[in-house]
Formats: sequence, structure tokens, C-alpha cells
Amino acid sequence: MSAPDSKPEVTTSARTTPNLLAKSKQLSLNKLESSRQVRPVGPPRPVSNVQVPKLRKGPQTMRLTGVGNPTSTPFENFSRFVDPSGKLNFSGKAVLHAQGVDFSNGTSYKINMNDLKLEGELGKGQFGTVQKVFHKPTNVIMAMKEIRLELEVAKLNQILMELDVLHQSKNDFIVDFYGAFFTESCVYYCMEYMDAGSLDKLYNKGVPEDVLAIIIIAMVKGLKFLKDKLNIIHRDVKPTNVLVNRTGEVKLCDFGVSGQLVKSLARTNVGSQSYMAPERFNVTENGYGVQSDVWSLGLTMVELATGKYPYPALNGKGGGIWEQLSAIVNGKSPSLPSDKFSEECCDFAAQCLNKDPSERPTYPQLLEHSFVKKYQDVVVDMKSWAEESYSLRQDIYKE
Ligand SMILES: Nc1ncnc2c1ncn2[C@@H]1O[C@H](COP(=O)(O)OP(=O)(O)O)[C@@H](O)[C@H]1O
Ligand SMILES: [Mg+2]
Repeated sequence: MSAPDSKPEVTTSARTTPNLLAKSKQLSLNKLESSRQVRPVGPPRPVSNVQVPKLRKGPQTMRLTGVGNPTSTPFENFSRFVDPSGKLNFSGKAVLHAQGVDFSNGTSYKINMNDLKLEGELGKGQFGTVQKVFHKPTNVIMAMKEIRLELEVAKLNQILMELDVLHQSKNDFIVDFYGAFFTESCVYYCMEYMDAGSLDKLYNKGVPEDVLAIIIIAMVKGLKFLKDKLNIIHRDVKPTNVLVNRTGEVKLCDFGVSGQLVKSLARTNVGSQSYMAPERFNVTENGYGVQSDVWSLGLTMVELATGKYPYPALNGKGGGIWEQLSAIVNGKSPSLPSDKFSEECCDFAAQCLNKDPSERPTYPQLLEHSFVKKYQDVVVDMKSWAEESYSLRQDIYKE
């Protein structure tokens, strides 16, 4: 993917005026709640009727980069997404505006910056930061993901996918979606706050096998739900995208990363570790199969179990990338130490990490695996593990 500066740049006014806000769709709480299955546990869904969003400081225009070509007007290219009023319109699926998001099936989530009190940063990702926020009207703490609107079409697609999937997802193993809105410079989406954080911050020197089993079973069930019910391949399975709360629940987030994005090796790997399956580095390989998520699941499992990313790490500036990629593509698959983990556990990881994607098990096969069978009825005290791991989190004490 080329640098944003080399792309044609578009500037358009995306301010949402009070007039437009008044016209925007107002749906009642009843409609919102009745149109979506209410989860038996968890905080109430936040709804806000505050009209005028407080805009972020920053450029008074929305910059869109990486769209169009020099011969056509750039607006024509992105009008598919941004209508003249400045709303982001995901054709037939959702309209995102300053006060929330309206989905084509009639559901609506109203939320905006005025209702939120920022409570600190939870982490930084490739596209922006994730903040802990307090939603004043409902007293609900949420995680708010900010995505800067220096958009490429691929990124818009990603946002669409994530919003669309998030709003459809009602599953114990998927984080809950509360709403989304945008200002002139950013798209924000609010999701369930998982108060122990992501697994990368919790595994410390490695998690015990029974805890590992519960996490892996939750991940397989979440991934199977995405595939069976929403026809989604996650594409970004890794420890930072598996979240835990202090009651011990384990949930997936950040699914639906656009294929256009993951095809870009440089972009995907700079400053991070790669969880991509070997076949994804093969440019002649077409498409991305669910088997590649199974690889990432296996790799995540080895990392959680051993407390270490199993390939050579990058130096933080993207250095070491070829060593890492070559180890993934040409090296032996990582495995679990057989003196520390049961035969069933080692075999589960080994099957996920088969270099040949067609040999990797499907989700139903994984759920039938002896490792799952061994632990599926075992009561594991996930709450204590989450509490204890949270108390050991290094990053919190640094603050
Ligand atoms: N819903 C959430 N609850 C708590 N922490 C979260 C939540 N979503 C994300 N985070 C934290 O924010 C960090 C940044 O997330 P993200 O932008 O998705 O980047 P990445 O997943 O690549 O780390 C994550 O590593 C995770 O620790
Ligand atoms: Mg993430």
C-alpha cells in the first residue's frame, strides 16, 4: 500500500449542521431494544438523544486519501460512501452520522461525544486508539475505538464490515456493540468494555492448560458463530483481539478486517508480530480461507501457553521482518512443549498449525477434538485467573 501522500487527496465539508441533525432519524429506545435481541446479562444498551455533537478539535474538513484517480473528480469516487450532507452511507447497510448509526434493517444506535467522559487510553492499534469512556446517560463504561478519517477505500470498507458485523453479533463469545458515530476527523465505535483487557496483557509467563482450554473453546465457538451465522472470516485472530473481563468471560473483537488491508504485507507487519498463516504470504494464492484463521488460532494458543510469541520478534521499526516471514513460510510450525502440556493439548495446537491449510481441521472438527472433550465439562475458575492475571498486568503499574 503506498503512502497516503502519493495518493490523490480529496477535501470536502463533512460538518453535520444542526439542521441536518434535526432531520436525522430519531428512533425510540423501544424500537431499538425490540429490534435487537436483549442479552440476558450485561449493561443496558445506551441510547442518547443529545442533538449537537461536540466536534473534535482538528481540521474542519474531512480528508480522504487513497481514493479515485486523477482523471475523475474524487468526490464521484467516494460519494458511494459519503453523501452530500456529510453522512457516511454504506450502501444498503448503514448510515453513520454524528449522532449515531442507522442500520438498514431499522435498528439505530444513538451515541455521541457529548455523552461520553474519557477515562484513559486502553491501547493503540494500527488505525487509532481505544479509549475507556463513561457514557453519562446510562452510567455504562465502554471501550471507544477511534479510527482517523484519513480514509482509503479499503479502510472505509473495513469500518463498514466491522459495524455491520458488530451490530449483528449476539453471541457470548463476541464483544457487544453499543453504537458508532463520526465527527469531522474520526469514526468512533463503542463496544463492551472488557475490564481485564486483551490476552496479550494477561498471559504473563503462560496460562495453565485448563485456562487455555476455556479460552480456546471460547475462541472456536466465537469464530464458528461468525462463520456460520454471519458468513465472516475473522482475519485478525491474535491475542490483542481476544478480550477478557474480570468475571472471567472471553470474547473476540475486531473481526472483518478488509482483505485489501491484510494483503499488504508491509502495512500489516510494521511494528507488530504476524499471526498470518504461511499461505497468506504466497501471492499466487487466491482468497483467504477460514483455514487461515485456524492457523492464527493455533499460533495464539502456542503464545498463550508458552508466554511468548513463537517466531523471531520484530525490532519495533519493522526490522527483522524477513526473518519472521521466512520462519513462518519456510520454518517448522511452532509446537507446544510435551512435558508441560497434555498430549491432547499439544495435538490440538499441532493440527491448527499444519502448514497445509487443507489439512487443518474445521471448527466442528475442533469442537470434537479430544482436547475440547477433555475440558468441556470441567469447571475452571476463570474469574480467579482473570483477577490474578489482571493484578499482575505490568502496563497498569507503569501509569
Ligand atoms: N473492548 C475493549 N475493552 C478493553 N480493552 C480493549 C477493547 N478493545 C481494545 N482494547 C485494547 O486496546 C488495544 C488496541 O486495540 P486495537 O486498536 O484493536 O489494536 P490491536 O488489537 O492491534 O492491539 C488492544 O490491544 C486492547 O488491549
Ligand atoms: Mg484489536
